[in-house]
Amino acid sequence: MQRTKILVIGSLNMDLVVHVPRVPNNGETLLGTEFHRYFGGKGANQAVAVARQGVRTIMAGRVGADAFGQDQVAKLQEEGIETDYLLVDDEHASGVAFIVIDAQGNNRIMVVPGANGAVSPRDIEALEPVMAECSCVVIQLEIPLETVFAAVRSAHAQGAKVILNPAPAQPLPMDLYPCLTVITPNESEAQLLTGVEVTDLATARQAAQVLLDRGVLAVVITLGSQGAYGLTLSGEFHVPAHQVNVVDTVAAGDTFTGALAALIGEGHSLREAVEYANAAAAIAVTRHGAQPSVPTKAEVLRFLGK
Ligand code: ATP
Ligand code: RIB
Repeated sequence: MQRTKILVIGSLNMDLVVHVPRVPNNGETLLGTEFHRYFGGKGANQAVAVARQGVRTIMAGRVGADAFGQDQVAKLQEEGIETDYLLVDDEHASGVAFIVIDAQGNNRIMVVPGANGAVSPRDIEALEPVMAECSCVVIQLEIPLETVFAAVRSAHAQGAKVILNPAPAQPLPMDLYPCLTVITPNESEAQLLTGVEVTDLATARQAAQVLLDRGVLAVVITLGSQGAYGLTLSGEFHVPAHQVNVVDTVAAGDTFTGALAALIGEGHSLREAVEYANAAAAIAVTRHGAQPSVPTKAEVLRFLGK
């Protein structure tokens, strides 16, 4: 049987975004300039990024029995994403992210996990037959860590490629690394995992080597405006960022990981996948919002002149 689907396990949030001239001081009230509601959450963003590259996508996680949850599920279905494994949690509200964006475009994000915090290792057990049919399983750290560990180990045991986006950053047990096909930290996540302060290509190489030595097959460190760095046992490469007009970087990392997974699932080389993901993420930073910023395959190919 050919494994053509990708399973994304993770969080769904409703992003409540406020634009302010500057972040208010303690006790200060400030008038914002804009308010937007976007579909977000690292898991859902990455599922959308996979699906918009034309790959069959399944999303697993939890939403609350509320309007935000209903909207989330409907939105993913509209994207053609299979939602049979999205559970409606009666005890917790849907996840919410409060995002403040200042006049310089810097963002500060506060997440209230709600139902995302109830995704359990038992939920993962039910996914094992699905994992066995998937080329890749994509996971982030916005659901409980014990559930992440169960998901990584099960996906590895079921023979799927495991792509872990270690965001938001948290330490991981050493025995998890050999189960990972690709890990995609940004600079600060790479620093938290390895202790190496990542500021440039030389320090990205050092941090990536630490992760490779722990048993990950491929390390891809995203470097924001410096693009991305990749390291495997066969060698290293750097893909510089595209020069674009940056308006909002929310979900740049999610777009990158989702697009990367889509190409790896299709059997492309790591370098081809990173070049494609780097273009997809470059488009994402030129657009506002989380899921609204994720480009389709046609948009990425046009951007790359293909
Ligand atoms: P975020 O948390 O903002 O979603 P992140 O911190 O997880 O992002 P970054 O390393 O900042 O991840 O960015 C991910 C990818 O997005 C980069 O590897 C690059 O491909 C693209 N990118 C980010 N910033 C820029 C930029 N200024 N110009 C072009 N591409 C960018
Ligand atoms: O990575 C971006 C996402 O982080 C946002 O959509 C927000 O929901 C937070 O989870």
